[in-house]
Amino acid sequence: MNNFEMDLVIETAMKAARRAGVIQKERSLKEFQVTRKQTRSDLVTEVDVQCEAAIIATIREVFPDHTALAEEKGEYAAEDASRRWIIDPLDGTVNYAHGFPMYCSSVALEADGAVVAGAVYDPVRDEMFHAALGRGAWLNGQPIHASTTPRLEDSLLATGFPYTIKTEAVNNLAQFAAFAMKAQAIRRPGAAALDLCYVACGRLDGFWEFHLKPWDMAAGALIVEEAGGMVAGKEGAPFSVYNHAVVASNGVIHGQMIQILADVALGSKHA
Ligand code: IPD
Ligand code: CA
Ligand code: CA
Repeated sequence: MNNFEMDLVIETAMKAARRAGVIQKERSLKEFQVTRKQTRSDLVTEVDVQCEAAIIATIREVFPDHTALAEEKGEYAAEDASRRWIIDPLDGTVNYAHGFPMYCSSVALEADGAVVAGAVYDPVRDEMFHAALGRGAWLNGQPIHASTTPRLEDSLLATGFPYTIKTEAVNNLAQFAAFAMKAQAIRRPGAAALDLCYVACGRLDGFWEFHLKPWDMAAGALIVEEAGGMVAGKEGAPFSVYNHAVVASNGVIHGQMIQILADVALGSKHA
Protein backbone atom coordinates (compact mmCIF):
# COMPACT_ATOMS: atom_id res chain seq x y z
CA MET A 1 0.00 0.00 0.00
CA ASN A 2 1.50 3.36 -0.94
CA ASN A 3 1.79 6.24 1.51
CA PHE A 4 -1.01 8.18 -0.09
CA GLU A 5 -3.47 5.28 0.27
CA MET A 6 -2.28 4.64 3.84
CA ASP A 7 -2.83 8.28 4.84
CA LEU A 8 -6.35 8.12 3.47
CA VAL A 9 -7.03 4.82 5.22
CA ILE A 10 -5.89 6.17 8.62
CA GLU A 11 -7.88 9.36 8.20
CA THR A 12 -10.98 7.37 7.21
CA ALA A 13 -10.61 4.87 10.08
CA MET A 14 -10.40 7.71 12.61
CA LYS A 15 -13.27 9.63 11.03
CA ALA A 16 -15.51 6.55 11.06
CA ALA A 17 -14.60 5.61 14.64
CA ARG A 18 -15.19 9.18 15.81
CA ARG A 19 -18.53 9.41 14.04
CA ALA A 20 -19.70 6.27 15.87
CA GLY A 21 -18.39 7.60 19.19
CA VAL A 22 -20.28 10.86 18.80
CA ILE A 23 -23.50 8.87 18.26
CA GLN A 24 -22.74 6.71 21.31
CA LYS A 25 -22.20 9.70 23.57
CA GLU A 26 -25.23 11.59 22.33
CA ARG A 27 -27.58 8.63 22.59
CA SER A 28 -26.28 7.52 26.00
CA LEU A 29 -28.30 10.33 27.55
CA LYS A 30 -31.61 9.21 26.07
CA GLU A 31 -33.69 6.02 25.96
CA PHE A 32 -32.64 3.37 23.49
CA GLN A 33 -33.93 -0.08 22.69
CA VAL A 34 -31.99 -3.07 24.04
CA THR A 35 -32.53 -6.63 22.79
CA ARG A 36 -30.88 -9.94 23.62
CA LYS A 37 -28.83 -11.96 21.17
CA GLN A 38 -28.23 -15.71 21.81
CA THR A 39 -27.59 -15.61 25.56
CA ARG A 40 -29.16 -13.57 28.34
CA SER A 41 -26.03 -11.47 28.77
CA ASP A 42 -25.30 -10.87 25.04
CA LEU A 43 -27.07 -7.62 24.26
CA VAL A 44 -27.48 -5.42 21.23
CA THR A 45 -28.86 -1.89 21.28
CA GLU A 46 -30.27 0.32 18.56
CA VAL A 47 -27.09 2.32 18.99
CA ASP A 48 -24.85 -0.61 17.92
CA VAL A 49 -26.78 -0.84 14.66
CA GLN A 50 -26.84 2.92 14.08
CA CYS A 51 -23.08 3.17 14.71
CA GLU A 52 -22.37 0.36 12.26
CA ALA A 53 -24.38 2.13 9.55
CA ALA A 54 -22.49 5.38 10.22
CA ILE A 55 -19.10 3.64 10.04
CA ILE A 56 -19.94 1.79 6.83
CA ALA A 57 -21.27 4.99 5.24
CA THR A 58 -18.09 6.88 6.19
CA ILE A 59 -15.88 4.19 4.66
CA ARG A 60 -18.02 3.86 1.53
CA GLU A 61 -17.76 7.64 0.87
CA VAL A 62 -14.00 7.19 0.39
CA PHE A 63 -13.56 3.53 -0.56
CA PRO A 64 -16.76 2.33 -2.26
CA ASP A 65 -15.08 -0.82 -3.60
CA HIS A 66 -13.75 -2.09 -0.23
CA THR A 67 -15.44 -5.00 1.58
CA ALA A 68 -16.20 -5.09 5.30
CA LEU A 69 -16.87 -7.45 8.18
CA ALA A 70 -18.86 -5.83 10.96
CA GLU A 71 -20.40 -7.29 14.11
CA GLU A 72 -24.07 -6.53 13.57
CA LYS A 73 -24.67 -7.21 9.87
CA GLY A 74 -21.70 -9.45 9.08
CA GLU A 75 -20.14 -9.34 5.62
CA TYR A 76 -20.50 -6.32 3.32
CA ALA A 77 -19.57 -7.47 -0.18
CA ALA A 78 -17.85 -5.20 -2.73
CA GLU A 79 -15.51 -5.45 -5.69
CA ASP A 80 -12.08 -5.34 -4.03
CA ALA A 81 -11.84 -8.37 -1.74
CA SER A 82 -8.17 -7.59 -0.98
CA ARG A 83 -9.37 -4.71 1.23
CA ARG A 84 -11.56 -5.62 4.19
CA TRP A 85 -12.59 -3.32 7.02
CA ILE A 86 -13.12 -5.07 10.36
CA ILE A 87 -15.55 -3.16 12.56
CA ASP A 88 -16.92 -3.26 16.08
CA PRO A 89 -19.46 -0.43 16.02
CA LEU A 90 -19.83 -0.43 19.81
CA ASP A 91 -17.46 -2.45 21.94
CA GLY A 92 -18.68 -2.71 25.51
CA THR A 93 -22.40 -2.99 24.81
CA VAL A 94 -23.29 -4.40 28.23
CA ASN A 95 -21.48 -1.46 29.85
CA TYR A 96 -23.27 0.92 27.50
CA ALA A 97 -26.70 -0.54 28.24
CA HIS A 98 -26.09 -0.05 31.98
CA GLY A 99 -24.66 3.45 31.70
CA PHE A 100 -21.20 2.22 32.80
CA PRO A 101 -18.85 4.63 31.02
CA MET A 102 -16.41 2.20 29.36
CA TYR A 103 -17.11 1.61 25.69
CA CYS A 104 -15.73 2.53 22.29
CA SER A 105 -15.85 1.98 18.54
CA SER A 106 -13.17 0.02 16.69
CA VAL A 107 -12.33 0.25 12.99
CA ALA A 108 -9.46 -1.58 11.25
CA LEU A 109 -8.40 -2.31 7.71
CA GLU A 110 -7.07 -5.67 6.60
CA ALA A 111 -5.16 -5.48 3.31
CA ASP A 112 -4.09 -8.68 1.56
CA GLY A 113 -4.73 -10.66 4.76
CA ALA A 114 -2.85 -8.41 7.24
CA VAL A 115 -4.27 -5.70 9.50
CA VAL A 116 -2.49 -2.52 8.41
CA ALA A 117 -4.36 0.27 10.20
CA GLY A 118 -6.75 0.67 13.09
CA ALA A 119 -8.55 3.26 15.18
CA VAL A 120 -10.31 2.88 18.52
CA TYR A 121 -12.29 5.82 19.85
CA ASP A 122 -13.48 6.28 23.43
CA PRO A 123 -16.10 9.05 23.37
CA VAL A 124 -16.40 9.25 27.17
CA ARG A 125 -12.79 10.40 27.57
CA ASP A 126 -12.46 11.78 24.03
CA GLU A 127 -9.51 9.47 23.41
CA MET A 128 -8.60 8.42 19.87
CA PHE A 129 -6.08 5.59 19.64
CA HIS A 130 -4.71 4.70 16.25
CA ALA A 131 -1.87 2.82 14.59
CA ALA A 132 -0.65 1.94 11.14
CA LEU A 133 1.73 -0.86 10.26
CA GLY A 134 5.31 0.38 10.63
CA ARG A 135 4.21 3.88 11.64
CA GLY A 136 3.77 3.54 15.42
CA ALA A 137 0.80 3.92 17.73
CA TRP A 138 -0.81 7.15 18.87
CA LEU A 139 -3.24 8.57 21.41
CA ASN A 140 -4.79 11.89 20.43
CA GLY A 141 -1.83 12.54 18.14
CA GLN A 142 0.88 11.72 20.71
CA PRO A 143 3.04 8.59 20.35
CA ILE A 144 2.30 5.85 22.89
CA HIS A 145 4.41 3.00 24.25
CA ALA A 146 3.75 -0.15 26.24
CA SER A 147 4.93 -0.20 29.86
CA THR A 148 8.30 -1.52 31.01
CA THR A 149 7.04 -3.34 34.12
CA PRO A 150 9.35 -6.37 34.35
CA ARG A 151 7.50 -8.63 36.79
CA LEU A 152 4.03 -10.12 36.82
CA GLU A 153 3.93 -9.45 40.58
CA ASP A 154 4.01 -5.71 39.85
CA SER A 155 1.67 -5.85 36.85
CA LEU A 156 -1.84 -4.54 36.41
CA LEU A 157 -3.70 -6.94 34.10
CA ALA A 158 -7.12 -7.02 32.50
CA THR A 159 -9.26 -9.81 31.14
CA GLY A 160 -12.77 -10.56 29.97
CA PHE A 161 -15.25 -13.43 30.07
CA PRO A 162 -17.41 -14.78 27.25
CA TYR A 163 -21.17 -14.29 27.14
CA THR A 164 -21.28 -18.11 27.26
CA ILE A 165 -19.47 -18.18 30.62
CA LYS A 166 -22.14 -20.37 32.22
CA THR A 167 -21.82 -23.16 29.65
CA GLU A 168 -18.29 -22.78 28.22
CA ALA A 169 -15.63 -25.41 29.09
CA VAL A 170 -12.81 -22.83 29.00
CA ASN A 171 -14.66 -19.97 30.70
CA ASN A 172 -11.50 -18.25 31.99
CA LEU A 173 -12.34 -18.58 35.70
CA ALA A 174 -9.40 -20.92 36.43
CA GLN A 175 -7.05 -18.60 34.52
CA PHE A 176 -8.45 -15.59 36.36
CA ALA A 177 -7.81 -17.31 39.70
CA ALA A 178 -4.24 -18.21 38.71
CA PHE A 179 -3.40 -14.66 37.59
CA ALA A 180 -5.09 -13.19 40.67
CA MET A 181 -2.57 -15.08 42.82
CA LYS A 182 0.39 -13.73 40.82
CA ALA A 183 -0.32 -10.25 39.48
CA GLN A 184 -0.56 -7.02 41.44
CA ALA A 185 -4.23 -6.73 40.44
CA ILE A 186 -6.71 -7.62 37.70
CA ARG A 187 -9.48 -5.55 36.15
CA ARG A 188 -12.45 -6.57 33.97
CA PRO A 189 -13.28 -3.29 32.22
CA GLY A 190 -15.68 -4.80 29.62
CA ALA A 191 -14.49 -3.44 26.27
CA ALA A 192 -11.77 -5.61 24.74
CA ALA A 193 -10.68 -3.06 22.15
CA LEU A 194 -10.00 -0.52 24.91
CA ASP A 195 -8.28 -3.15 27.06
CA LEU A 196 -5.80 -3.64 24.20
CA CYS A 197 -5.31 0.12 23.79
CA TYR A 198 -4.64 0.42 27.52
CA VAL A 199 -1.85 -2.18 27.16
CA ALA A 200 -0.51 -0.12 24.26
CA CYS A 201 -0.29 3.08 26.30
CA GLY A 202 1.02 1.48 29.49
CA ARG A 203 -2.09 1.85 31.66
CA LEU A 204 -2.19 -1.95 31.75
CA ASP A 205 0.78 -4.30 31.56
CA GLY A 206 -1.14 -7.20 30.08
CA PHE A 207 -4.53 -8.46 28.90
CA TRP A 208 -5.84 -11.88 27.96
CA GLU A 209 -9.17 -13.24 26.77
CA PHE A 210 -10.28 -16.42 24.99
CA HIS A 211 -13.52 -16.09 23.06
CA LEU A 212 -13.13 -12.87 21.13
CA LYS A 213 -14.16 -12.04 17.57
CA PRO A 214 -12.07 -10.39 14.84
CA TRP A 215 -13.75 -7.01 15.40
CA ASP A 216 -12.86 -7.03 19.12
CA MET A 217 -9.15 -7.37 18.37
CA ALA A 218 -8.23 -6.16 14.87
CA ALA A 219 -7.49 -2.51 15.62
CA GLY A 220 -6.38 -2.99 19.23
CA ALA A 221 -3.86 -5.76 18.51
CA LEU A 222 -2.13 -3.65 15.86
CA ILE A 223 -2.08 -0.70 18.27
CA VAL A 224 -0.36 -2.89 20.90
CA GLU A 225 2.27 -4.14 18.45
CA GLU A 226 2.96 -0.69 17.07
CA ALA A 227 3.37 0.58 20.64
CA GLY A 228 6.15 -1.94 21.20
CA GLY A 229 4.03 -4.53 23.02
CA MET A 230 3.41 -8.14 22.07
CA VAL A 231 0.33 -10.10 21.05
CA ALA A 232 -0.02 -13.86 20.82
CA GLY A 233 -2.78 -16.39 20.48
CA LYS A 234 -3.66 -19.28 22.78
CA GLU A 235 -0.66 -20.67 24.66
CA GLY A 236 1.69 -18.32 22.84
CA ALA A 237 0.75 -19.37 19.28
CA PRO A 238 1.13 -16.68 16.59
CA PHE A 239 -1.67 -14.15 16.82
CA SER A 240 -4.55 -14.09 14.35
CA VAL A 241 -7.70 -12.00 14.66
CA TYR A 242 -9.60 -15.13 13.53
CA ASN A 243 -8.36 -17.43 16.31
CA HIS A 244 -10.47 -16.05 19.21
CA ALA A 245 -7.75 -15.92 21.88
CA VAL A 246 -5.39 -13.07 22.65
CA VAL A 247 -2.57 -12.59 25.11
CA ALA A 248 -1.32 -9.00 24.89
CA SER A 249 1.42 -7.52 27.01
CA ASN A 250 4.23 -5.02 27.30
CA GLY A 251 6.48 -7.80 25.93
CA VAL A 252 8.54 -8.03 29.11
CA ILE A 253 6.00 -10.08 31.08
CA HIS A 254 4.83 -12.00 28.02
CA GLY A 255 6.65 -15.24 28.84
CA GLN A 256 5.35 -15.13 32.42
CA MET A 257 1.77 -14.74 31.21
CA ILE A 258 2.07 -17.56 28.68
CA GLN A 259 3.56 -19.79 31.38
CA ILE A 260 0.61 -19.21 33.74
CA LEU A 261 -1.85 -20.02 30.95
CA ALA A 262 0.09 -23.15 30.00
CA ASP A 263 0.15 -24.29 33.66
CA VAL A 264 -3.61 -23.85 33.97
CA ALA A 265 -4.21 -25.71 30.68
CA LEU A 266 -1.96 -28.56 31.85
CA GLY A 267 -3.67 -28.64 35.26
CA SER A 268 -7.11 -28.93 33.68
CA LYS A 269 -5.92 -31.79 31.43
CA HIS A 270 -4.82 -33.69 34.53
CA ALA A 271 -7.89 -32.80 36.57
C1 IPD B 1 -17.48 -7.67 24.24
C2 IPD B 1 -16.50 -6.84 25.05
C3 IPD B 1 -16.12 -7.55 26.32
C4 IPD B 1 -15.58 -8.94 26.06
C5 IPD B 1 -16.57 -9.74 25.24
C6 IPD B 1 -16.88 -9.01 23.93
P1 IPD B 1 -19.27 -6.35 22.72
O1 IPD B 1 -17.80 -7.03 23.02
O2 IPD B 1 -15.35 -6.57 24.31
O3 IPD B 1 -15.13 -6.87 27.05
O4 IPD B 1 -15.32 -9.58 27.27
O5 IPD B 1 -15.97 -11.01 24.98
O6 IPD B 1 -17.79 -9.77 23.18
O7 IPD B 1 -20.24 -7.45 22.64
O8 IPD B 1 -19.54 -5.41 23.80
O9 IPD B 1 -19.02 -5.70 21.40
CA1 CA C 1 -16.82 -6.29 20.96
CA1 CA D 1 -19.96 -4.75 19.69
